[in-house]
Amino acid sequence: MVNYKELGLVNTRDMFARAIKGGYAIPAFNFNTMEQMQAIVMAAVETKSPVIMQVSKGARNYANATILRFMAEGAVAYAKELGCEHPEIVLHLDHGDSFELCKNCIDMGFSSVMIDGSSKPYEENIALTKQVVEYAHKYDVTVEAELGVLAGVEDEVVAAESHYTKPEEVIDFTTKTGCDSLAISIGTSHGAHKFTPAQCTLVNGVLVPPPLAFDVLAEIEKKLPGFPIVLHGSSSVPMEEVETINKFGGKLEAAIGIPEEQLRQASKSAVCKINIDSDSRLAMTAAIRQTLAENPSYFDPRQYLKPARDNMKKMYIHKIVNVLGSDGKLAQC
Ligand code: G3H
Ligand code: 13P
Ligand code: ZN
Repeated sequence: MVNYKELGLVNTRDMFARAIKGGYAIPAFNFNTMEQMQAIVMAAVETKSPVIMQVSKGARNYANATILRFMAEGAVAYAKELGCEHPEIVLHLDHGDSFELCKNCIDMGFSSVMIDGSSKPYEENIALTKQVVEYAHKYDVTVEAELGVLAGVEDEVVAAESHYTKPEEVIDFTTKTGCDSLAISIGTSHGAHKFTPAQCTLVNGVLVPPPLAFDVLAEIEKKLPGFPIVLHGSSSVPMEEVETINKFGGKLEAAIGIPEEQLRQASKSAVCKINIDSDSRLAMTAAIRQTLAENPSYFDPRQYLKPARDNMKKMYIHKIVNVLGSDGKLAQC
């Protein structure tokens, strides 16, 4: 058993309280590889931003949980080496689906876990979340829970109203579970295909998706004043990256994300954690495809992973500074 505090990591409590007060959001970037980790740390240090590094079940299967945990410990040391004396880095389990998985992560040094019981019946979601909270809080680990279902294009419906988080449930759920933050469903979804073209409006040749349900967010905020809200599925799917991928041999059709203006608006509310994974995947893939297409003789991975890392870093900085507004928000530099 190792406690995250011994690794120099922090939980989300204090950074979320400051984010809500200050009207900005903390970036939660998924990572699977060393290059993603380096790019996240470089971006956070350069912008003096707190940051959440999150690990999905898929990332654990791909990279090995122990390796990712040591990478997060390395991230703290790396941030200090880059000149940040007091980095605020959270190691978070993304979409934990069982008590055992959350416990395992807490025991190995994670400072925050998500227990995602959103697909379960309401009472089961409460019972499971409560069980995780009771264990996590013994070690001062913070817990994110989820209410409402994120729509997916697979369903051929995006954020049908019945999938939105029900504002009338949030007080009961947070009181009974004791969770520290709540992921809600207001129209975002995972992946690079968040909306079908048919669901969008064509404005000056650009497909504009339907707006997020800010009315639902406002109702939730009214019910839970000052309570940290989380948005999943918040990649914007930048057109330039999709075009680069397609220009250099890729085939990403009708990839559509959440307009950054809406994320900017959400960041100013009680939304204090915004999850971004797909944009990092796009930035990495675009740079690798372009580099290899333009340099057919390259075979040293460093030759294409460095541009990939640079492109991800640029994207992370852009999100921090121009979208979420968490730059310069470290408690101590
Ligand atoms: O929420 C989903 C994240 O994008 C992680 O995806 O399970 O493929 O690593 P993954
Ligand atoms: P995106 O697929 O929009 O990047 O969402 C990531 C996410 O929510 C991880 O939990
Ligand atoms: Zn998610």
